[in-house]
Amino acid sequence: MIIEPKIRGFICLTSHPAGCEKNIQNQIEYVKSKGNINGAKKVLVIGASTGFGMASRISSAFGSGASTIGVFFEKPPQEGKPASPGWYNSVAFQKEAAKAGLYAKSINGDAFSREVKAKTIELIKADLGTVDLVIYSLASPVRMNPETGILHRSVLKPIGQPYTNKTVDFHTGVVSEITIEPCNEEDIANTVAVMGGDDWSLWMDALMNAGALSENAMTVAYSYIGPSLTEAVYRKGTIGRAKDHLEATAFSIADKMKAIHGQAFVSVNKALVTQASSAIPVIPLYISLLYKVMKEKQIHEGCIEQIQRLYSERLFTGNKIDTDEKGRIRVDDWEMRTDVQDDIATLWPQATTETLPALGDLPGYKSEFLKLFGFGFPEIDYTKDVQENLEMPGLVSL
Ligand code: NAI
Repeated sequence: MIIEPKIRGFICLTSHPAGCEKNIQNQIEYVKSKGNINGAKKVLVIGASTGFGMASRISSAFGSGASTIGVFFEKPPQEGKPASPGWYNSVAFQKEAAKAGLYAKSINGDAFSREVKAKTIELIKADLGTVDLVIYSLASPVRMNPETGILHRSVLKPIGQPYTNKTVDFHTGVVSEITIEPCNEEDIANTVAVMGGDDWSLWMDALMNAGALSENAMTVAYSYIGPSLTEAVYRKGTIGRAKDHLEATAFSIADKMKAIHGQAFVSVNKALVTQASSAIPVIPLYISLLYKVMKEKQIHEGCIEQIQRLYSERLFTGNKIDTDEKGRIRVDDWEMRTDVQDDIATLWPQATTETLPALGDLPGYKSEFLKLFGFGFPEIDYTKDVQENLEMPGLVSL
């Protein structure tokens, strides 16, 4: 079929298999161009099909020659209906891994469930014995807690008082003011239940109890802080409470992992255009200014550059891992540089529908957004028929 972007709000309903493949190939080429990383050899990535998780899978496989198992929740294609992009990304990853002679298997299902955890452990035991690294990179709006049977929905709201600021509709470029009403206590608890550390902890307990972790194994989950400009809706909002919980969980997991001389960390990453971040009000305007400023200073990074740097300059240097005073690894260091944030603070009040094209990098935002769905790659002829109904090599059925 011929596949075109069908955009609704902050999501795109279609995705292009050839474009997604190109996106994965570009990331693989980048990692290869940076040379070998002396990293983990047997890696489990939870949330492995898009964004930071896919970048982690690629950095492990093509940076360190690792065997990888990826867990994700994606919509398979149907005749005449494209799959979600993470499906096509994973098809492409599996193909490239096979070409390179690398072990790679994937599990498509709800990572929050007991069933997916059990299946993953069974696969690790059968094929790899143990894993040396577990990357936890889930971003989800809902979680069914398997212990309680309660379905939790996360919200992106401020706490305590309404929050008014500017945002941009990145499709039209219209800058407007929005007010987000504050959450209630239940919203906080629900958001923490979905995006906090509870499920990460359940995964690590299950892996450890099954003897599926190697001696000296490490686990890393991803967090975000950001500037004071966005803190009412991010770090001091409901999602920030979840990130506080995730960061605290790193310590309790680290304690348990002492038994195998293992380690657990949170890495604070940079704000980037992903499916998850496009859904947060105010953040798209911030990102479009951030991209402009960081590109001008030649320090812009995407997911793959971030994770390649996390691996090569933080996790696998052979030295003790550097953290901040709260025990977190920081690869948001360039985003948070004073000169970068000072420039954004100056631009922020000036940003309007009329001025944003000059002040911000809206074209960069839009093009990154489309690329998440496999659109906008100059090498791809989008007028050509493509096979949408792609099977995934290496997919393990549940
Ligand atoms: P993303 O939306 O690109 O990826 C989410 C992944 O989770 C996908 O592989 C998806 O299939 C998987 N997933 C979602 N629900 C699932 C479920 N129930 N079962 C199995 N897999 C499921 O998200 P992104 O942005 O890469 O986020 C990953 C982590 O990085 C999150 O913790 C996020 O908060 C964090 N982060 C994101 C930043 C950003 O600007 N995008 C900045 C810093 C941290």
